[in-house]
Amino acid sequence: MLAWYDRHRRVLPWRAAAGATPDPYLVFLSEAMLQQTTVAAVIPYWHRFVSRFPEVAALAAAPLDAVLAAWAGLGYYARARNLHAGARAVVAAGGFPRDLPGLRALPGVGPYTAAAIGAIAFGLPVVPVDGNVARVAARVAAVTTPLPAARAAIAAAAAALGEDTEARARPGDFAQALFDLGALVCTPKSPRCLGCPWRDGCAAHARGIAADLPRKAPKPSRPARFGAHFWLTDAAGRVLLRRRPESGLLGGMMELPGTPWRAAPWTMAEALAAAPLPAAWRALGQVRHGFTHFTLTLDLYAAEAAAIGAQGELHPADALAGAALPSVMRKCVALARG
Ligand code: ADE
Repeated sequence: MLAWYDRHRRVLPWRAAAGATPDPYLVFLSEAMLQQTTVAAVIPYWHRFVSRFPEVAALAAAPLDAVLAAWAGLGYYARARNLHAGARAVVAAGGFPRDLPGLRALPGVGPYTAAAIGAIAFGLPVVPVDGNVARVAARVAAVTTPLPAARAAIAAAAAALGEDTEARARPGDFAQALFDLGALVCTPKSPRCLGCPWRDGCAAHARGIAADLPRKAPKPSRPARFGAHFWLTDAAGRVLLRRRPESGLLGGMMELPGTPWRAAPWTMAEALAAAPLPAAWRALGQVRHGFTHFTLTLDLYAAEAAAIGAQGELHPADALAGAALPSVMRKCVALARG
């Protein structure tokens, strides 16, 4: 496995060169960004983020809003708030914790992330189980129970992979080898078993069922939710934004003012009753966005007002790139600005 990794490892911007000691801050940051997000989506954010916050002290010293703005579009914003709080905790403690309980105590760091940072940054002999690693382990051990019931059996199978002597000698490389094997060879569909270093020891391959694992219980379909938001500009070409509550979905991010999101569509009259002020509102169209637990359809209305009272923040409408707007709101901005 490690011989395979030494030949085929992906070049990723957060990865230390072969044999070099990884910077714990960069490992911490990469794991925060890679939760629920693909490598391809993370890479452009990574470069911008690291140039703005090159070390943990810079991140800890930055205002939360600057961090949220650099994160805007990457989704799951609790990660950015936790990352910022984690950087402050690390600076206050004088450095990164170097054991699993210490890592687990950082905000937003669960068992997976603690194991990933522990193995990659500090060489702890643990196997972090993300989706890629779970797939590899489920196949090697031929775990045929469907997820989520299979989770414990898969965790045990992954831990067993890490018992190997070579893995114990290079836990960080072993973890990253599993990530890369899952991404390049042991792929969800059509795994490339011919090129796999574990082909002879893989129970699923021996039984011809590698591509079918891990099995998954059918997912309930996502419910639909509806809302209406308002693009209100003043004579100076500024648009009204407001900040979402700190806790909950898209916490602390900016948005166009709008209605709550509910299970039934809003009529125009219902929506306009929630507008920031009475005006000649016109319907611009709809924006659709998929969240993990629901799909959202928003009606967008626009109007101009000579003066907008102190009910939010006014931002130049042609310079919203630096604002902490989540993707769903960027779609609204794009529709409003044509
Ligand atoms: N997924 C989670 N952590 C990763 C890493 N360090 N490299 C590649 N993919 C990952």
